[in-house]
Amino acid sequence: MILSLVSWKGGCGKTTSSIHLAALLASRGTTMLVDEDRSRNASNWAGRGAGVLPFKAYPPRALGTEARKHEHIVIDTRGGLEDQDLLDLYENSDIVVVPAVAESMTLEALVNTVQTLKKHGKDTQKLRVLFTMARRASGKTDKVAEAKNAVMELGIQTLQTTIRATEAFKDACDAGRLVKDTRNPVGKLAWMDYERAFRELTA
Ligand SMILES: Nc1ncnc2c1ncn2[C@@H]1O[C@H](COP(=O)(O)OP(=O)(O)O)[C@@H](O)[C@H]1O
Ligand SMILES: [Mg+2]
Repeated sequence: MILSLVSWKGGCGKTTSSIHLAALLASRGTTMLVDEDRSRNASNWAGRGAGVLPFKAYPPRALGTEARKHEHIVIDTRGGLEDQDLLDLYENSDIVVVPAVAESMTLEALVNTVQTLKKHGKDTQKLRVLFTMARRASGKTDKVAEAKNAVMELGIQTLQTTIRATEAFKDACDAGRLVKDTRNPVGKLAWMDYERAFRELTA
C-alpha cells in the first residue's frame, strides 16, 4: 500500500501521523517511510530512535532501490504542495491522509484542494481527513464534530477517529519513539487513537 500524508499548512500532524501510521503498517508487512520534507523531521525522528521504530525513513532518492524491498510505503510531505505535486502524489497513492486541526483555515484549505483535484479531472475518493490535536469538547461546542460535518458536506471522507491532543507526542518525537513508548500515560491512549484510525483506513 502507498499511503501519503498531505496538508496545506505545516504543523497539523503530517509527520507525527506518518511515523505512527508507518509503525502500524509495519505490523502488516515491510514498510518504508519516504521523507519528502526538506526539514527532514521524520528522518530525524527515526534517527534519534536509532532503530527502535519498526521501519526506516529514507530520502526520496532512495525510492528507486528501496521500494521493491518493501510492501508498504508511507510518504511524508512538506506543507503547501504545488498543484502538480499534489496531483502526482494523488495519482501515485492508494490513500491520501489529510491531517487537519479543527479550525476554519483547515476547511478553506480543503476547499482549495478539492477544487485543484476536480479542475484536473480527479475525484476525491482517495482522500481521508484525519482530525488531530483534538481537545475534549467543552460545554456545548464540539469543534471537531462541526468540522467533520463541514468536511463531509464537501463530499470528502473523514475518519470517525480523532487523534487526541497530548504532549506525549512531543516526548515521543524528542526520544525518537512511538507515543505509546513514552513515560506519559496518555501516550497509550493516543496510540490507541492511531490504531483506530489505521483500522478505518485499511477497512
Ligand atoms: N495529537 C497531537 N497532540 C499534541 N501535539 C501534537 C499532536 N500531533 C502533533 N503534535 C505536535 O504538533 C507539532 C506539529 O506536528 P507535525 O507532525 O510535525 O506536523 P507537520 O508535519 O504537519 O508539520 C509538533 O510539535 C508535534 O509534536
Ligand atoms: Mg512535517
